[in-house]
Amino acid sequence: MSKRIVVLTSGGDAPGMNAAIRAVARAGHAAGWEVFGARNGFDGLVKGDLRPLGPRDVGGILQTGGTILGSARSKRFRTPEGRAEALAKLEHLGVTAAVVIGGNGSQQGTYALSKAGFAAVGIASTIDNDLVGSDLTIGADTALNVALEAIDRLKATGSSLGRAFLVEVMGRDYGYLALMAAVAGGAEAVVLPETDTDPDALAGEIRAAFDRGKPHGIVVVAEGAKMNAEALARHFKEHKDVGFDVRVTILGHVQRGGRPTYYDRMLATRLGFAAVDRLERGEHGVLMGVLRGEVAATPLSEVAGKAKPLDLSLLKLAGVMTR
Ligand code: F6P
Repeated sequence: MSKRIVVLTSGGDAPGMNAAIRAVARAGHAAGWEVFGARNGFDGLVKGDLRPLGPRDVGGILQTGGTILGSARSKRFRTPEGRAEALAKLEHLGVTAAVVIGGNGSQQGTYALSKAGFAAVGIASTIDNDLVGSDLTIGADTALNVALEAIDRLKATGSSLGRAFLVEVMGRDYGYLALMAAVAGGAEAVVLPETDTDPDALAGEIRAAFDRGKPHGIVVVAEGAKMNAEALARHFKEHKDVGFDVRVTILGHVQRGGRPTYYDRMLATRLGFAAVDRLERGEHGVLMGVLRGEVAATPLSEVAGKAKPLDLSLLKLAGVMTR
């Protein structure tokens, strides 16, 4: 019987997940594996809902957002009974290895599989970029480019009418997307979950930008910040005159669905290939990511549930650039 491997996508979809599925399917095929895709993440393992993924089945997906396999945040797999069901299904189907493409919560599932003695490898994929073991995760670059395009547009309309925009970006409780979008988008201020923001002081910063003659005020707000964009806008309306007329734009899921950028396609292709290569060498229980530009494997014990520190030194850079 040929070697069988299953690939799945779990948690929030991220642009580049399809490129990673394609890479696993084709690298697996090249190495003599029979490759299967599980439908809707770990739920597919629990239900034994697997379909064959030959090299031709993954044609035409490299450039598409979302995930052809479907995704989920499986409640069932989080229970010992659910995991036992999944392992029994995999054994029954003759599948001996798994590649899990996903973010922080999903890699806890990969770790659980691995601790149960199953050969599992994770691939770092989330727009939030909050995974230890990868400097950048699949999808973050595309999500940032979507945010930047939105900010560029908001600057144009904001400058025309003398407005400030509170632009809320995703990222769950991690401020990476907000901080990078603020620096690369030339925002006047940024609000992060990692730092305390006094709304009156923030209003003062925006007012100062207005007084310096800036035609617009762009504030990037992380969705996980203590006060979100709506709350800040309410506060300004009730207590502070920031000079500009204030509007709120919440980018939300628009950041998730885009065509993957060059960077995300390359990263996904390299990590998918590397995940299969690890399994070929009999190595597992690791997350494949990129560290200092190189593909790297980090033990899942050092990844699952761990918090990745945010480089707050960029705040100083952002502050200087707003002059
Ligand atoms: O983890 C990815 C992410 O897009 C977060 O940035 C966001 O907080 C969350 O998923 C949204 O989850 P859902 O798609 O379930 O609304």
